[in-house]
Amino acid sequence: MKKIGVLTSGGDSQGMNAAIYAVVRYGLEHGLEVYGIQSGYQGLIDGKVEKMTASSVENIIHRGGTVLQTARCPAMKTEDGQKKAVNTLKRHGIEGLVVIGGDGSFNGAKVLSTKYGIKTIGIPGTIDNDLAYTDFTLGFDSATSVVINSVQMLRDTMACNGRTCVVEVMGRNCGDIAMYAALTSGAEIVIVPEIGYDLDGIVARLTANAKSGKMDNIILVAEGVCSAEQVAADIKERMDINIRSVALGHIQRGGNATFQDRLLGVRMGARAVELLVQGKTDRVIGIRNNAIIDEDIVEALAKVKQIDKSVYDLANKLVEY
Ligand code: ADP
Ligand code: F6P
Repeated sequence: MKKIGVLTSGGDSQGMNAAIYAVVRYGLEHGLEVYGIQSGYQGLIDGKVEKMTASSVENIIHRGGTVLQTARCPAMKTEDGQKKAVNTLKRHGIEGLVVIGGDGSFNGAKVLSTKYGIKTIGIPGTIDNDLAYTDFTLGFDSATSVVINSVQMLRDTMACNGRTCVVEVMGRNCGDIAMYAALTSGAEIVIVPEIGYDLDGIVARLTANAKSGKMDNIILVAEGVCSAEQVAADIKERMDINIRSVALGHIQRGGNATFQDRLLGVRMGARAVELLVQGKTDRVIGIRNNAIIDEDIVEALAKVKQIDKSVYDLANKLVEY
C-alpha cells in the first residue's frame, strides 16, 4: 500500500479534524502518500482529490466541522455513482480509503470494498453515539458538552423567572445526548425514544415539584421523540405552568472538540493507518473500555444499540425532590 485517501461523510462532528490530522501525519510517518477527498463521496465522484502534506493539517486538531468538507450524496447509492468514485481512486492509484462518518457512510465503504476491491476502514464520526459496536463516537462528547453548557445558561434565566424550559437536542433516533446531558447537567426530566414519552408522569413530576416550591425545571427531549415545542404545548394543555421551549439545533455540532474527542480522533486515525498498512479492509474502529478496537464492518453494523438503562435511572433518581 503506497497511497491512501481520507474523506468525511454525512453529518460533520467535532473530532473529525483530529482524525484527519492523525491519518495524514501518521500516514506520512509510515511512508504513505495521503490524499484528501473533498465533500465525502460526492467529491470522490467529482474527482475532488488533493495530495495532503504535514502542513495541510496544521492547526486543525481542535476545530469543529471538517476541513475536508462533508456531504450527503445519494448518487453513491447508485452503480453509476459508485463506478465514478472508483475511477477517481484508480486514477490516483489510491488503494486504501479511510471513511470518517456514521453508519450510512460505512455502508458506502462496504460497497467500495466488496464490489470494487478498495481497502476501506471506517472511523465513527457522528455526534449521535448511535453505533452499538463502540462505546463512543467522535463528536458525542463535544456535542453533549455544548448541551450541558446551554442548559446551565438556560437555568440562569429560567430559575429567576420560576419557569420550566423544554430543550430539544439532536441524536436522530438515539437518546444518548439527551440522557447523558441530563445526568451531567441536573435536568429534572429527560425524554428519550428508547424509553418513550410519558406525559402523565411528567405532569405529575412537575406538579409535585411546584408543591414543594420548585418552579424552575429543565426538560431535555431527544429529537427522535418529538419537538420541544410539542412537549411544551402538551404540558401547557394539562396544567397551569410558565413554560418555554428551545431547540438547540446545529449549535451542537459546532465549537472546538473536547479533549476526549481530540484524543479519540487521533487514536482512531492512527489505528486506521496501521490497519491499511497491514493490508486490512472492511474494518471499523471503535473504543471499548478505553481501548481502541477494530471490528468487521458487517458484524459491527449488525449490532443493535441499546440504551444504558442504569444511566437513565440514575439521571432520574438524582433529581427527585
Ligand atoms: P451518516 O454517515 O452520518 O450515517 P448518511 O446516512 O446520510 O450519514 O450517509 C452518508 C452518505 O453515505 C450518503 O449520503 C451516501 O453517499 C453514503 N451511503 C449511505 N448508505 C449507502 C449505501 N447503502 N450504499 C452506498 N453509499 C451509501
Ligand atoms: O447525524 C448527526 C445529526 O446532527 C443528527 O443529530 C441530526 O438529526 C442530523 O444530523 C441533522 O442533519 P442536517 O445537518 O442534515 O440538518
